[in-house]
Formats: sequence, C-alpha cells, structure tokens
Amino acid sequence: MDFTVTSPPYWGQRDYGFKGQIGNEKTYQAYIYKLITIFSSLKEKLTPEGVFFLNIGDKYLAKYGKSPLGFIPYQLAYLMVKDGWILNEIIIWSKPNHMPSSIKNRFVNSYEPVFVFSKNEHNIFTKKNTHNNFSNILKINLQPTPYKHVAVYPEKLVDSLLRIVVLKDNSTILDPFAGSGTTLKVTKDYYKAFNAIMIENHTDYIDIINERCDLNGQVDILKYNFIPYKYQTNNLNEQLTLFEEEKQLLTNKVIDKNGFIKIYNDKESYYNLLEQFYSDTIKNHININATCFIGSKDFDIELIYKTSLLNNKGWVIRNMIIIEDINRWFPVFMIVDDNKKNKYIFNYENLKLKSKTEYQRDWNLTNFIGYRVFNSIDKIKKEGKIIEILQKKENGFLEYVIVEWEDNTYTKEFVIYSKKEINQNIIFEKNFNIKELKSLTFINNHIQYKKRQQKETIAHDILNSNYNGKFKNEKRKNWGASPGARSSVEQEYFSTQRLYDVNQNFIADYINFKRIQKGLSKQDLTTLFPKNYKHTVGHWLRKDFGGSIPTPTDWFKLTEIFDLDTKITNYVCKTALKIQTVKNSEFKIPDDFLNVNSLGLFDELINDNADKHSYNLQ
Ligand SMILES: C[S@@+](CC[C@H](N)C(=O)[O-])C[C@H]1O[C@@H](n2cnc3c(N)ncnc32)[C@H](O)[C@@H]1O
Repeated sequence: MDFTVTSPPYWGQRDYGFKGQIGNEKTYQAYIYKLITIFSSLKEKLTPEGVFFLNIGDKYLAKYGKSPLGFIPYQLAYLMVKDGWILNEIIIWSKPNHMPSSIKNRFVNSYEPVFVFSKNEHNIFTKKNTHNNFSNILKINLQPTPYKHVAVYPEKLVDSLLRIVVLKDNSTILDPFAGSGTTLKVTKDYYKAFNAIMIENHTDYIDIINERCDLNGQVDILKYNFIPYKYQTNNLNEQLTLFEEEKQLLTNKVIDKNGFIKIYNDKESYYNLLEQFYSDTIKNHININATCFIGSKDFDIELIYKTSLLNNKGWVIRNMIIIEDINRWFPVFMIVDDNKKNKYIFNYENLKLKSKTEYQRDWNLTNFIGYRVFNSIDKIKKEGKIIEILQKKENGFLEYVIVEWEDNTYTKEFVIYSKKEINQNIIFEKNFNIKELKSLTFINNHIQYKKRQQKETIAHDILNSNYNGKFKNEKRKNWGASPGARSSVEQEYFSTQRLYDVNQNFIADYINFKRIQKGLSKQDLTTLFPKNYKHTVGHWLRKDFGGSIPTPTDWFKLTEIFDLDTKITNYVCKTALKIQTVKNSEFKIPDDFLNVNSLGLFDELINDNADKHSYNLQ
C-alpha cells in the first residue's frame, strides 16, 4: 500500500449492527486500543514511503455537569506515535457548511482532524510539502449524499489529500473502512493510473459501492471471515506521569478573576502555564465560574494530548478552537472548572452585540428613530419608542435619547452597548461607602422629561441624520412606521437595564443595616409595603439564591422610609438602554474555527460579570 485514506466509525456515534463492530465499546479507551491494533497491522502493509491519512471526529463525553471534549482522535494519534508511527502533520478539515447547533455555552464544532502518518521521515507527503507555504487547513463543504446511515466524507477531501502527495503510476490506494466508497469513486474518476483496494464489512454498503462506482461486477469481491484479535485495554491516563516537579507559581501575576486569555509563541511558556492548571494553582486566582482560553502557536500532538488530560484533573475542556493564521493553524483550549453547581462565563450576548457592532456595522447607517424600547426592570412592564436623538457617540452609536412611553410619559435615557467600562467605575469602601470613579452626568431616569412635540422632533431627526432612504424628504406624521421602527420590529430593540451590575449581597446588607438602625423588624418593614410585597421584601433581605434587588420604583419607596445614600441610590437605580437583537436574526454562535484576527471574541466572552464587583466590608 502506498496511500491509505480512511475514516473509521467514530466512537459512540452509531450502531452498524454487527458483531465485532468498532465504535460501540464501553469506553473510548478500548476503542482507541482496538484501532491502534488494527492500524499497527496496516503499518506492516505500507510501503516505506507510503502515508496513511486518518480522518476521525471527536465527541463530547457524557457526564453529569459540564461535558468535556473527548480528544479521542488526538489521544489515538498520540498513542499511535508511541506505537512507532511518524505523525507528519495534523491537517484540519474545516467544514464551512457544518451542522448548525443550538448550543449556547461553547463554540460549535465545525472541523475534524486528518492525521498524516507514515513509517519513515522521508515519504510521499514530505517529498511534496517541505516548503513553507503548504497549508495544513482544508476548507471543504460536506457533500449531500443519497446514502442513508453512512457517515460519508466528501470526494473533495480525498481528492485534496491525493494532491498533496507524490504518487507514481500503479500505486495502490487503500480504504479499510470504505463505507459508500468515496475513496474508490475519486480514484476511479480522477486517478485512473492507481489501483484501489476497499474493505467494507456491510453488504448493504458493498452494494452501494458497486452502484456508485459503476463496477458492474467487473471487480473481484473477496470475502474474508472476521478474525478475532487482541488489543490492549490499559487505562490511558495512568500511563503517563506528567510534570513531576511543581514549578514557580503564579503568585505575583495579575489575572482577571473571570478568566484569562493566554496565547504563547513557544511551548515552554505554555507548559509552564499548563503545570499550574495541573497543580490547581490557577484556582486560587480566578472565580469558580471563570473561563480560560489558553493556546500555543508552537505545538505538537504531545501538547494537545497533555492538555486533554486536564479533563481528569478538576477541569473541563469545552473546546479546542482552531485558529487560522495565514495558512497554518494552532489550537486554543477553552477550559472551565469541573463542578456541577456553577455555570461558567460565556457571555454570548456580548458576541451577538459585537457581531452587530464593531465587526460588521457602521452605526451611522442606522436610523434609530422609532426603535422600540422595553422597560422590564420594574414590576409593571412598559413599552416605548425612541423619538429623539440628543447625542451620538463618535462611532455613530447613540448616547442620549428621548423615549416616549406608552403611558404618554417621556424620559431622557442614556444608551450603552457594553457594561464593561461602566462597572469598573464603581468602588466599594468601608461602611457602605460606594464611589463612582467618574460621575456620569446623565439625568436620572425616574425624572420625567418634559413633553415634546413629537411631529417636529421626528422630522428634525430624519432631516439631520445620515439617513438616506426613501423617507429622506418626508415630514412623516405616522412615525410608528418610520424606517427605524420597521427595522426595530424586524430585528432590534432596546431594553432598559440597570446601569451597574448591582451586587445583591451588598444591597441586602445595606437595607438590613438601615432597618436595624431604625429598629424595624423584617415584619415591620413588610407591612409598610402593599400586600403583594409579602415575599418580595423578605427576598431583598436574603443573601442566598433567593435574594433579589429592589426595582428602582421600590427603591424610591425605600427612600421614603430610610435615609438612603444618594450614591447607593444611583448605583441601584441608574438605568440605561442596551441594544438587543431578537432571536431570529442572523447571529450564530461562532464556530470553533476562527481567524487569528478574531481573537477579540475571547475577550468579549469573559466580559461583564457582576461577581467582579464583590465588596469587602472588613
Ligand atoms: C465512517 S464509515 C466510512 C465512510 C466512508 N469514508 C464514506 O465516505 O462513505 C465507516 C465504515 O466502516 C465499516 N466497518 C468495517 N469494519 C467495521 C467494524 N469492524 N466495525 C465498524 N464498522 C466497520 C462500516 O460498515 C462503515 O461503512
């Protein structure tokens, strides 16, 4: 054999319905050892310069809590190297038309690895690809197929692999898990100078191959009996002793509590960090719900393998994200704490926004007049519309607007698109002192804005904005149907949110402090509120999961009872409008295949978190 290409059954994916089948072993370790044994006998049949392209997909392991990525292909590849194979390259087959997914707490899988194995350093692959501009990324769409129950790889994949080797006429190509015969189809159509051997267990699939490749009984189909074989069943993870020595720890380094992003150029620095994951030191520096992204531009199968073992060491690897850097890739691992209780930070709402903002959008092209606004903070929900733009940010996004509410009131509103900087503006001090580092000058939302003449303001805005659509010269009376309103109905709106991520524990302590100072029992306080507040007041005073924060309206009632600090009032009651994109918009969770220019995504994902603003009264 000169050239072998195959895609064996993946572990735990489907039932091929026969005895001795591969893929339905109890553990993936047994599956790996089975394949190592089979591939080892394949190695004997490979010519000295021959290569073996192995395509194999990964799987998330079933687990109560957060399910880890299995790293099955990489653990197999690593152990095949231990078994004497040379791993020349890991090609990433990226599938631009991969299956969509409703997953919202990790990147969506969109690629599979193809390992390039050989017996010798010098082989038909390295002959051709010693130059630097060889790309180890193949972008190939999945191909629709009429064959049911077979996981078919695209003809273009086989073709692309045949193009990156140097094959003499009369070379022999093998596919030991032929399935629907894609390998044969490509060879027969485009590489007529080669011989091909297909192995397939299932007679149904042999029929498919016959038909698909127009064989018409012209070829020999040899029948072999299943020969039982022995394979090792060691526990993979016990085989390695990793990082015996614990090195310098992170002590002086500042790490963002929500997690961090560290991508190194060299393996050594990466391993230094990995050791700290192994020894759990990292856990002293980050929150339990933190999300870490770590990667190395310089890597090999061993690095991936050693990283994958974190899954058994108190961590869960949720993704191996492929970063495309010109024509090469490197991995970034998304790692979270392994516990059943706490969700980890994966602020996909931020990405949604980001995809609409910095990545794609020129805000100057959006006419916001008529955009819907929902106030859902207060108990009574209210809807309104933006009727006037008072001030824009440099990038054309809104800063201050006037909203007309359905109850015919008007408010001036501050608009934000990320809470990131805003929350860093708050500092907690002793004795319930709270400091706004930079006083934001907008008017408090509870103060009603003076009524405006709607017709005038709308026309005014359309005339003065960069809006260039068909209503450009119109003084529209029916402003509900303005272009902004329409686009708002279709895809976007604003919602009223608290400006600050309010720390509920802090507020509960504060109200309790005020209550006790005034000599009121919890019951006393409850009776000062309407009947339907029976439980609500209690929730304000609790500091566990049942705790809640008073709405701005409730807070103003509290100011009538207690003498409350203005800064804390601002902290609780200041609100801002935040843009929202409705579900059926084009936004998709990003794939686990990213360009090196989009690394900013990681930053967005771990932004915005209330826990960051924990307070300490000691
Ligand atoms: C993932 S499919 C290969 C699909 C193929 N690349 C294509 O494009 O159609 C794996 C194939 O291996 C075959 N197979 C052969 N021996 C097997 C075994 N011992 N256990 C499981 N599957 C086996 C299955 O019947 C199945 O057709």
